[in-house]
Amino acid sequence: MLNILVLHGPNLNLLGLREPTIYGQISLAEINTDLVQLGQSLGAAVSTLQSNHEGALVDAIHAARGEQDGLVINAGAYTHTSVAIRDAIAGTQIPTVEVHLSNIHQRESFRHHSYLAAVVLGQICGFGPDSYQLGLRAIINHLQAVKAV
Ligand code: DQA
Repeated sequence: MLNILVLHGPNLNLLGLREPTIYGQISLAEINTDLVQLGQSLGAAVSTLQSNHEGALVDAIHAARGEQDGLVINAGAYTHTSVAIRDAIAGTQIPTVEVHLSNIHQRESFRHHSYLAAVVLGQICGFGPDSYQLGLRAIINHLQAVKAV
């Protein structure tokens, strides 16, 4: 059984209410429930955490070391600002997939750069809540392939 942590950054607690034309109508609780279910069907125990605080996200990544096999992270706006979250992923070397609901490359230019992109396995964006589902499948496939070698 794989253990996967899904991390949600700032303002993602407002999903469903927040700019629904960009981020959709689905709440974070619904996204998390669907991820836990998908994880179960694929042989992974999924836990989830949302924080609006950069340091809390860094702490969660540190705490995942030795506990979690992989991470799926939507760092929200910290994607575009946080060297600390990037360094936490690089420093712990936990295999990580970056996800975004919106296609950050189609939006304002300040969203085009991700500090995380260089230290994650890959980035999935633009598919709404499906980005998380695709990200979860991607990290599980990656970890199972690594285990099989
Ligand atoms: C986001 C995109 C970010 O630019 C934004 O700050 C968010 C959400 C997304 O999921 O599309 O908070 O990460």
